[in-house]
Amino acid sequence: MEDRYAFLAEWYDPTAALLRRFQLFFYPKDGSVEMFDVKNQRVFLRRTKYDNIHQEDLFMGNRVNVFSRQLNLIEYGDQYTANKLGSKKERTLALIKPDVVTKIGDILELIYSSNLIVTKAKMTKLSWSQAADFYMEHQSKPFFNNLVQFVSSGPVVAMELMGDEAMSIWRKLLGPADGAVVRREVPRSIRAQFGTDGIKNVAHGSDSLAAAARELEFFFPSTIGHCPSNTAVFTDCTCCIIKPHAVSEGLTGKILNSISEAGFQISALQMFSVELANAEEFYEVYKGVVPEYSSMVNELSSGPCMVLEIHGTDVSKTFREFCGPSDPDIARHLRPATLRALYGSTKVKNAVHCTDLPEDGVLEVQYFFKILDG
Ligand code: CDP
Ligand code: MG
Repeated sequence: MEDRYAFLAEWYDPTAALLRRFQLFFYPKDGSVEMFDVKNQRVFLRRTKYDNIHQEDLFMGNRVNVFSRQLNLIEYGDQYTANKLGSKKERTLALIKPDVVTKIGDILELIYSSNLIVTKAKMTKLSWSQAADFYMEHQSKPFFNNLVQFVSSGPVVAMELMGDEAMSIWRKLLGPADGAVVRREVPRSIRAQFGTDGIKNVAHGSDSLAAAARELEFFFPSTIGHCPSNTAVFTDCTCCIIKPHAVSEGLTGKILNSISEAGFQISALQMFSVELANAEEFYEVYKGVVPEYSSMVNELSSGPCMVLEIHGTDVSKTFREFCGPSDPDIARHLRPATLRALYGSTKVKNAVHCTDLPEDGVLEVQYFFKILDG
């Protein structure tokens, strides 16, 4: 029998102002989808081939776009799907420590090559007392003060990693905490490659599923409440969005590396899942001007994107040049070293959005880091 994965999905129907429930079926053999309306007990979408859904996108809590409808996956639809896709999926916290935040591109490359994906990310700066709360379990240790002092000394990046056995895979990737031990015994680990000593050892990884749940809640609370704030400065800045297609193609690490290698300073970084209405609002100025407007809106709301504040004097123009012409085919001809030439495929899936007009830089950065991260 042909493989078929089943999910329960919710879609907010804006015209009826109703939350509708569907069974969503995915056939990996030919990448086709089918939808069944649960309330009205009828086929909603006949089995249709659809290139924009991949098996890796199908996990609980994720949102997928099916023909411009944002579907929230809320449950596995049957035991077979839960066993096959869900059994070993875990979430864990990775916290990149202050001295290696500029190495985040390299670290992401190693994360992706271990079959983990990044589902949340936020650059933040912890106060002394926030860092002390985070490391509470080490309160009585002799290194506690130095550790808290170091972790609160500059911006860090917190990430939620997801995948089969994510918690232990991330710790294995990191290697042991001690600088001498790690270099001697696990020279290929992240801590051996990028670490300095026992305290400056690149990153933190949760050491149990219970710790992961608590630590993820610390940075990414499930209910509205206090959480460490983003690091956006809102002056002399421009906005860059690594688009959802590039995030799901695993290009984030490469793109961040290219941006840093070109000498641009990333002063804020955060992943967002943009609602359709917010994507429309963000791209409002292009409505009726650019023929791709609605495809751009769909792309931006099709999954998590990564938003950056790039900081520097007159950075808007130089960063825009570095992104290249909006059509990647043209970019590959005229400006082969630009981000869009390197990582884009079409005018809509062109890897990155960047602010067009210098005077809009602050506004676009505010849209994400003030309004959506409010
Ligand atoms: O980070 P990991 O879980 O591998 O190690 P830990 O034993 O939970 O310690 C937490 C952090 O404290 C380490 O990552 C080090 O930065 C720091 N530490 C230290 O500075 N000196 C030690 N002797 C042990 C840990
Ligand atoms: Mg630990």
